[in-house]
Amino acid sequence: MNIQELNERFQEIYGHKAEHAFFAPGRVNLIGEHTDYNGGLVLPCALSFGTYLLIAPREDKLNRFSSVNMESSYVADAETLKNNPKSWIKYPLGVMKEFEQKGFDVWGYDLLYYGNIPNGAGLSSSASIEIVTAVMLNELTTANLDMVELVKISQKAENEYVGMNCGIMDQFAVGMGKTDHAIALDCATLDYQYLPLNIKGYKLVITNTNKTRGLADSKYNERRQQCDDAISDISAVHEIDFLCQMNEKDFEKYGTQIKNPVNFQRAKHAVSENQRVIKSIDALKTGDLVTFGKLMNESHRSLKEDYEVTCKELDTLAEESQKSAGVLGSRMTGGGFGGCTVTLIEEDKVDEFIEKISKIYKEKTGLEASFYVADIGDGAHKIY
Ligand code: GLA
Repeated sequence: MNIQELNERFQEIYGHKAEHAFFAPGRVNLIGEHTDYNGGLVLPCALSFGTYLLIAPREDKLNRFSSVNMESSYVADAETLKNNPKSWIKYPLGVMKEFEQKGFDVWGYDLLYYGNIPNGAGLSSSASIEIVTAVMLNELTTANLDMVELVKISQKAENEYVGMNCGIMDQFAVGMGKTDHAIALDCATLDYQYLPLNIKGYKLVITNTNKTRGLADSKYNERRQQCDDAISDISAVHEIDFLCQMNEKDFEKYGTQIKNPVNFQRAKHAVSENQRVIKSIDALKTGDLVTFGKLMNESHRSLKEDYEVTCKELDTLAEESQKSAGVLGSRMTGGGFGGCTVTLIEEDKVDEFIEKISKIYKEKTGLEASFYVADIGDGAHKIY
C-alpha cells in the first residue's frame, strides 16, 4: 500500500484528511546476537520496509487507533493507559505513557498504522511501531528530543509497559539506521559508527521460517536472568557489570566460577559472540567477506549449542543455506525461537538458492519459507 492509498484509507476511516505521515523501518542484525543486554557489540541494519503512521489532531482528548494490517481498532484515553491492554496498541500506548510522564500532552489524535514487516519474524515490527510513535509525538508535542533519547524511551516502553525485557539494539537500529550501512553499536556506552556495506556482487537474503514464536518472550527473559546469575558468580572474584567486558582469555580464567553449567554455556556464548562482532567489524572494513561469512556460521552454531535459542526450523534454514552454492555465511537473526535467518550470498546465485532452500525446508519441516532480498534503508523519519 502506498502513501496515496493510505491517505485514502485514513479519510475513509476518520472522515477527514491526515495531516502528517511518519515512517520507521524494521531491522536485520548481521551479527552480535544476545550481546546487547550483555554490554557488548551488535551490527544491525535498518530495512527498507517498516511501519507507516498517518495522523491528524482531534478536538477532544481521545486517541483513536486503527491499522490496515492488524485486526482491531481502539479508542483510548488517559484511563486506558492504566489497563495495560494486551493488543497491538500496547506498543504505541507504552510510548505515549513515557511522553506523558515527561509532561507532554499525548491525547487528541486520530492515528492509522500500516506495517509491511512480517509480524513475529524477529525483524523488529514492535520496535518499529514504538519508534514511529515516538518520532511522531516528538514532532507534534514539540518535545524536541534527539533520536537517541527517542530510542531510549521506546526501549523503556517495551521493558516496562509491554513487559519484554529487551536490550537496546532494535530500537537503536530502527531509529538510527542509514542506507547501505550497518551500525557498529557498543551497547554499554551507546558509542556507534556507521560501517559502509561494501558487498558488491553479494546480497543479504532474509529467510523467514514462518514458525510462530510461541513463548519467545518468557524464554528471552529467562536467558537474561541466566546471564545475570553468571555475572553474580563471577563477581565474587572479578568485578564486572556485563559479561561482554570479558574476552575469551578472561573467560577461561573466571568462567569456572559459574556454578550452574547451563549458565556457563550462556556466558560462553555472550563472550565469544562479542569477539566475533569485533572480528566482523574488521573483516567488513577490509572487505574480507569470506571471513565475515565464517563468523556468521560460527555465530549460528554458538546460538544453537551454547545459547539454545534456535529451533529445528532455524537450524534447517541456516545449515542448509551454509551448504548452498555461492553462500559465504548464514545465521539466525534477532531473538530466536523462530523468526528469520540472514544469508550472505553471491548475487547471481540468489534465484537458485531460493528455489533449492524452499524445497528442502518444506520437505524437512512441512512449512513454507519466505524470502526477502534485503534493501538497507534509513532510520525513522517524517514523510510530510
Ligand atoms: C531481540 C531483542 C534485542 C536483542 C535480540 C537478540 O530482538 O529485542 O534487544 O537482545 O533479541 O540479539
